Amino acid sequence: MFKIKVPATTANMGPGFDCFGMALNLYNELIVEESDRFLIEIKSETPSMFMTTEDNLIYQVITRFYDKIGKKMPKLKLTQYDKIPMTRGLGSSSACIVAGLFAANELTGKPMTKDELAQMACQIEGHPDNVAPAVYGGLIVAVLEGEEKILHHIKISPSDELSFVTFIPDFQLSTAKARRILPSGYSKADVIFNISRASLFIASMMSKNWDNLPVSVNDRIHQPFRGAFIPGMDKIFEHAKNEGAKGVFMSGAGPTIIAITTRKNEKSFAEKMKLHLQELDNAWEIQILHTDLEGAQIL
Ligand code: HSE
Repeated sequence: MFKIKVPATTANMGPGFDCFGMALNLYNELIVEESDRFLIEIKSETPSMFMTTEDNLIYQVITRFYDKIGKKMPKLKLTQYDKIPMTRGLGSSSACIVAGLFAANELTGKPMTKDELAQMACQIEGHPDNVAPAVYGGLIVAVLEGEEKILHHIKISPSDELSFVTFIPDFQLSTAKARRILPSGYSKADVIFNISRASLFIASMMSKNWDNLPVSVNDRIHQPFRGAFIPGMDKIFEHAKNEGAKGVFMSGAGPTIIAITTRKNEKSFAEKMKLHLQELDNAWEIQILHTDLEGAQIL
């Protein structure tokens, strides 16, 4: 029996559509036991839509791993302890994919390296920005190349002084729906807008010069379109900026929104935002999160 802990992730972080992602200190845990019968239990702290049948995402990923290495899969008991809210843009599906791959790797005597697991996770997920930070921790700049989707990445460790105040609404937004609304092309001005801000964002994070964050988290590739599905988003951005956030961005495909502040100010900022959120039509939960630097771990 062993336990796997996988962090939540926030993808895109404003301008880095499909290539920036950061791990957060909010975790799903999976207990894996060899058993005489197939059993999946889900003990979720948030409403769960995961299946307890063989259609379960973690189970499917474990099956795929065994098929890939050509071994027969034993009967397993899987117990999911989920804290990452589902369909909210915090990487809950990626956490399952990574948990399944780490579980299968451990069960089969570790035939794959961490890099190979990250590579396989990207091939399953289709884009790297949630799965790569779930594997490695930290802030990851990740690119998939070619038909084979080869993963190239760099891990950055954001300053421990930064805090990510996370606003999670009571409604869901599926990634598929949030991708369908995006245009098929962009103007040269919009492409330049995002390239320049994405570059400045990473330079700011690496140099710990946060004066540029308010400008560098801006985006024209996905947030303006997806905002149509997130009632209250514009108000949250406006209030967060007025209350001194160093940057505000949509987490992944939304609907969660994250404001960057400092550890020193995180509590007073969250208190002030709580009052603003109460004026909105939907219920928004606030979680004060920080960067996870470890990524998925076998405990
Ligand atoms: N980069 C992805 C998107 C993240 O924004 O659609 C969601 O998985």
